[in-house]
Amino acid sequence: CGIVGYVGPRALPEVLVGGLRRLEYRGYDSAGIAVVDNGELRWAKKAGKLANLAEELEAHPLPYGTAGIGHTRWATHGGPTDVNAHPHTGIGREGNGNGRVALIHNGIIENYAELAAELAADGLHPISQTDTEVVALLLGREVSRGFSLAEAMRKVCRRLQGAYTLVALDADEPNRVVAARRNSPLVVGVGTGENFVASDVAAFIEYTREAIELGQDQMVEITADEVIVTDYDGNPAPTRAYHVDWDLTAAEKDGYDWFMRKEIFEQPGAVAATLLDRLNEQGRIKLDESTISPGDLREINKVIIIACGTANYAGLVAKYAIEHWTRISCEVELASEFRYRDPIVDSRTLVVAISQSGETMDTLMAIRHAREQGARVLAICNTNGSTIPRESDAVIYTHAGPEIGVASTKGFLTQVVACYLLGLYLAQERGTLFGDEIANVLEDLRATPDAIAKVLNDLGAVMKLASDLVDVPSVLFLGRHAGYPVALEGALKLKELAYIHAEGFAAGELKHGPIALIEQDLPVFVVVPPKGRDQLHDKVISNVQEIRARGARTIVLAEEGDTEVIGYADTLITLPKVSTLLQPLVATVPLQVFACELATLKGHDVDQPRNLAKSVTVE
Ligand code: G6P
Repeated sequence: CGIVGYVGPRALPEVLVGGLRRLEYRGYDSAGIAVVDNGELRWAKKAGKLANLAEELEAHPLPYGTAGIGHTRWATHGGPTDVNAHPHTGIGREGNGNGRVALIHNGIIENYAELAAELAADGLHPISQTDTEVVALLLGREVSRGFSLAEAMRKVCRRLQGAYTLVALDADEPNRVVAARRNSPLVVGVGTGENFVASDVAAFIEYTREAIELGQDQMVEITADEVIVTDYDGNPAPTRAYHVDWDLTAAEKDGYDWFMRKEIFEQPGAVAATLLDRLNEQGRIKLDESTISPGDLREINKVIIIACGTANYAGLVAKYAIEHWTRISCEVELASEFRYRDPIVDSRTLVVAISQSGETMDTLMAIRHAREQGARVLAICNTNGSTIPRESDAVIYTHAGPEIGVASTKGFLTQVVACYLLGLYLAQERGTLFGDEIANVLEDLRATPDAIAKVLNDLGAVMKLASDLVDVPSVLFLGRHAGYPVALEGALKLKELAYIHAEGFAAGELKHGPIALIEQDLPVFVVVPPKGRDQLHDKVISNVQEIRARGARTIVLAEEGDTEVIGYADTLITLPKVSTLLQPLVATVPLQVFACELATLKGHDVDQPRNLAKSVTVE
């Protein structure tokens, strides 16, 4: 998750471990460094915190070296172990690599299975469970064929699918580091007689504030005095140089004031990463891990989603899609309530536990109870190696990257996406959707990162609203169908961050109670469903009219081109056109931004709201 590379006169191990320490805030579960010294590759890597690596380096110090790379890993493929930690070298094993190349990697290589099969035919077998080692072996093979490290990197990158930042060393080129990027960040730090590459400027800001941003599908070679940027064909590529004037804390947040805001803006990438590498060789959706047999899966007659907080709302969104696509009944239950009501669960029940951290005690206790009753448990989780996926029969990982802000944002969107993948997987295995229907939904899902980015590029109305409403005592949120959990999530975010009274309601319930709360100037957010075959769009617009007639201030979220809402919206927040089921992925975003901004204006600590914990490990 954190990457650093260095060529220059300083003591390599110190610069690398220091850089990794500066990137620690990104979260990680193992760490490693490699240096080239006297034409030889030397490295150390350890599962766990940097202290473990530091201890290892104290016991077995590495030389100063001439070029080096360092990495903190957030496990995706393969658990957080010493072997899976980066760098990957392929060294010292009969027939494997040639011991010259070391590689670190952030991201996911989608076509690693196919590449691994090709390497196997050449007698090259990875010893770790990572996709990274496959790339290390490919690089090793190219340099042993006589290509320079830069040429080898270009050749390999042209074959990779997915998202990656790659940084490599070659013992035969002892004064050079080569790096490449696609859909994953990489910056160059330009010093005097020394140069750096890193996943963000925090890693080198104590040495230099001059940086170069790399573009998509670009590659950089650094030596102590040179920075050469090219595309994957070796042509010189345009770059953007800039001066970093943030202090270190701002640098860790990439210039954002809060981790939460940074994480909100990371959502297009997080959703895209969660959608990567989901099809097997036959083009069918696969789970990350599963011991549930296809036969048992076909026997499932009920899905129960259990989760807490925001994850529970992701489950509520998912219910609409899962029932629609699979025709299996799907209940969504708060994990803390589940086992105390003697739920009806048996071997034909699929319990889906959604948890960003994978450590929430209420959720863990609920899945233990479900398993005791014979249920199969599938975890949707962002943290590889955490307890909940370890105690489950199957797992889909969200690839949001570490979430540091206590209030979940990218965790939520990626949980919804993972639940949708599960829904499609069940529909595929049970034959309730045709292949082309599944392909169409996947295509729509793949278009959502751009739609989310569009929302993030047009936040003027939301920011103004936050400053207008900074002193309001209470806010209501209404939504219907998949927009109902969005309303709940909008209200939860405001409670968590701004500490004001906020409630979400199903719009259809308005007339059964909540309408009594409507009074002059009360802000009411309404999520309007896209115009579809059913009447929901028109019904929700009637709700907007009803509350406006009673003096409320209406803040309407509706898809672009929805002219029918304009007359009733005091503030209109336009959403890109997406299907009803995918609307939560775009509609939640302005509500996150609103809560974040309002809390900022109120002077609250957005990343660590009072009384809340990121991961609640007590019942
Ligand atoms: C805590 C956090 C929430 C989160 C919930 C579930 O209450 O403050 O933001 O939604 O736990 O966390 P999990 O890690 O299980 O998704």
